[in-house]
Amino acid sequence: MIVAPLRTPLCELLGIRVPVLLAPMAGGVTTPELVAAVTGAGGLGSFGLEGMSADAAHDAVRRAVELGGPPVGINVLLAPTEGPEPGAERVHEVLAPFRRELGLDAPPPGPPEPPPAAAPRALVEAGLDAGASVVSVGMGDPAEVSDLARAAGAPLLAGAATADEARRWARSGADAIVAQGAEAGGHRMTPGPGAQPPPLVGTFALLPRVVDAVDVPVIAAGGVMDGRGLAAALALGAQGVAMGTRFLVSEEARLPRFVQERILGLADVDTVITDQVTGRPGRWIRGRVVDALVAQRPGTYGWPRHRHALWDVRTAGAERADVDLFPMLAGQGAGLAGAIRPAADVVAETVAEAERILGAGV
Ligand SMILES: Cc1cc2nc3c(=O)[nH]c(=O)nc-3n(C[C@H](O)[C@H](O)[C@H](O)COP(=O)(O)O)c2cc1C
Repeated sequence: MIVAPLRTPLCELLGIRVPVLLAPMAGGVTTPELVAAVTGAGGLGSFGLEGMSADAAHDAVRRAVELGGPPVGINVLLAPTEGPEPGAERVHEVLAPFRRELGLDAPPPGPPEPPPAAAPRALVEAGLDAGASVVSVGMGDPAEVSDLARAAGAPLLAGAATADEARRWARSGADAIVAQGAEAGGHRMTPGPGAQPPPLVGTFALLPRVVDAVDVPVIAAGGVMDGRGLAAALALGAQGVAMGTRFLVSEEARLPRFVQERILGLADVDTVITDQVTGRPGRWIRGRVVDALVAQRPGTYGWPRHRHALWDVRTAGAERADVDLFPMLAGQGAGLAGAIRPAADVVAETVAEAERILGAGV
């Protein structure tokens, strides 16, 4: 049984028993089984819907609600489209040796054609129609979907990586802010186009600033891997945590086993932030492809097109189970995960450990 103080006002807002959120992760990682397991354990399971068709999003959400019941969260990315940088063609020169190694043909010249995916509003509509009851956005202004969330009575969460951004999203109608520290895996919530280098504020410095800056509940994201992280976040004023990397190594995540094993073995210095893999700054596991792009900085085709520039390499890297040729987003905390575990156990152990630390256990 969970008792106060781990039950925060955020729990009331989201309809959850414990203040642990599965951070939304696009790319198919957040399966219905993973989302349902986190919700079933009393937290909030959330889908990263970016890149999906509206039908696929609808099916996934409906399945998670069937498996784990409400609440189920959905997330979309709102980053504006950016154009190619001068010289972006050089990205294929950097990738050429890897393509030769993998026996892949050179891609046609010019920016890649992204596969069809639904627009953020269509994804939110599909997810809400299928039974989602929490909406979150990353990399943009939540006002873009706030009418949809309001109409459905769903709380709206917005990711922020600076205190200023948190203030802006609260003014735009966010019901809670996800404060994403620099440690986090995934893309940075900020900056806008052209901000180089991106402002990188660690979770410990960011969290109290955001808590002071806004009147809505704050959720800590970035480097939270266990109950120590949850306890620290609560102590700094957060009302909950969103864990991404920890759930990458859960049994229900859709991620090849060789990648999960690599994540378990990562040292604190084994990830790097770069915009050269997808066109926006993200934190990646270091490996031969990522290191070559970081070192040679060929330029990008811009977001979101650049994301597809090395899709063939990644797919072939997965077939070979070669982690060096399979660029993957993950946070600095990765190696702290310990073991591949069922997601419900991760939630329960995280809460139990935080309760012990905070002296809040039964
Ligand atoms: C593989 C991966 C994919 C992600 N995709 C999204 C996404 O689609 N939308 C989003 O708002 N955040 C996304 N993120 C960021 C997470 O929601 C969260 O901020 C981050 O994982 C927290 O830090 P941690 O990885 O240290 O736990 C992603 C993170 C990872 C690792």
